[in-house]
Amino acid sequence: MPEPVSFQAPKGTFDVLPPESGAYERLIAVFATLVERAGYGLVISPMFEDYAVFQRVGEQTDVVRKEMYDFYDKGDPPRHLALRPEGTASVVRAFVEHRPSLPFKAWYAAPSFRYEAPQAGRFRQHHQLGIEALGTEDPDLDVEVIGLLAALYRELGLRRVTCRINSLGDEVCRPAYRAALIDYLEARADHLCDEHRTTIHDNPLRVLDCKQPECVAATRDAPRQIDWLCGPCAAAYARVKEGLAATGVAFSEDPRLVRGLDYYTRTTFEFAAEALASAQNAVGGGGRYGGLAESLGGPPTPGIGFGCGMERVLLACKAEGVEPARPLVVDVFVVDTAGGAAARDLTAELRAAGISADRAWDARSFKAQFRAADRSGAQVALVVGPDEAERGVVAMRRLRGGGDQTEVARDRVINQVRELLQP
Ligand code: HAM
Repeated sequence: MPEPVSFQAPKGTFDVLPPESGAYERLIAVFATLVERAGYGLVISPMFEDYAVFQRVGEQTDVVRKEMYDFYDKGDPPRHLALRPEGTASVVRAFVEHRPSLPFKAWYAAPSFRYEAPQAGRFRQHHQLGIEALGTEDPDLDVEVIGLLAALYRELGLRRVTCRINSLGDEVCRPAYRAALIDYLEARADHLCDEHRTTIHDNPLRVLDCKQPECVAATRDAPRQIDWLCGPCAAAYARVKEGLAATGVAFSEDPRLVRGLDYYTRTTFEFAAEALASAQNAVGGGGRYGGLAESLGGPPTPGIGFGCGMERVLLACKAEGVEPARPLVVDVFVVDTAGGAAARDLTAELRAAGISADRAWDARSFKAQFRAADRSGAQVALVVGPDEAERGVVAMRRLRGGGDQTEVARDRVINQVRELLQP
């Protein structure tokens, strides 16, 4: 026999138990209602993919270089696979494989895995709500996508969430900007932090995102992509800003906004919760990606989307005191001291009639069952003792807001309960 040991969830992961899991349920429900109202359909894709699928999010990104949970399976020869670190590459791979008609508008609620240093709001398994829309470059779609994420926060009651936007240009105007940025950074290499002094050529844009004081100071006057946009990128960016203003989405421009994945072109955006500590206050972000479908073997297909970290959104809700959780309660609790058959049959009948119901087990005492009824949060208790069982009746008692006990014929219980529960 192996020694008994005590196991815990792996570092950087966590369990979500009821009633706290109710907040997750409600968050997904609010999100699904919101995006389905805008024509997005649920996509479920595997939790792992060919490693190369996720490599396409950018060879130079931390996600690929340091954080991927990759492994070889038992195939012959073994396949190199990785757990999903983000949702976009999976959805675009699925799009390329199945070629649904365009525009393709998808939503997902799925776990993502990143080998990061765990801390408040940063986990090795987190859960993302996201949408991806493929098939058009129309900047009004950018407005729709950003507006939907803003609407989610609003719907949840969050008030202190701000939106920053930027344009990262495209394959036409990015190269010249990149060259100008490299020139600028090379001239100041000695003033950059240790990490970025050596990575100027691999990913110069990332230096703009560095939080180290040296890099912040050295890049204060760095060239900005928005000053280098080509005609079509500039026009699209202007249209996005106009659209956000017209549809009442508050935003500020941040020419230094660079995101952690390399597929972005044109519009990028990030939402921050002011109620959270700044290192983990990004509650959602996304942008356009011009070349991702092509890099996964599909036809050139523009796309845009966002990912929104559920844990961070829930932390922000807590910090702002706007609990999205609906406590897990049932409408009716059946107390049965006559042998349990009434509890068994009544709960089944109630549930079949669409009324939530629970009961106690193990033929416990009347007192213990009544305590359980109270704890359950139910509105109504149905009580069956030997006397009621014998006479074919059920005692019905309101548990909240007072009210007397009444007796109901067994075959009229469902109707009576329904009447009592009516608001
Ligand atoms: P991302 O910014 O890497 O973008 O992640 C999206 C959101 O997931 C973040 O804003 C944050 O709320 C949450 N998040 C990320 N990493 C963690 C973590 N370790 N712990 C807790 N929460 C985390 C993407 O993943 C892109 N796929 C978004 C996108 C969709 N772009 C276009 N379409």
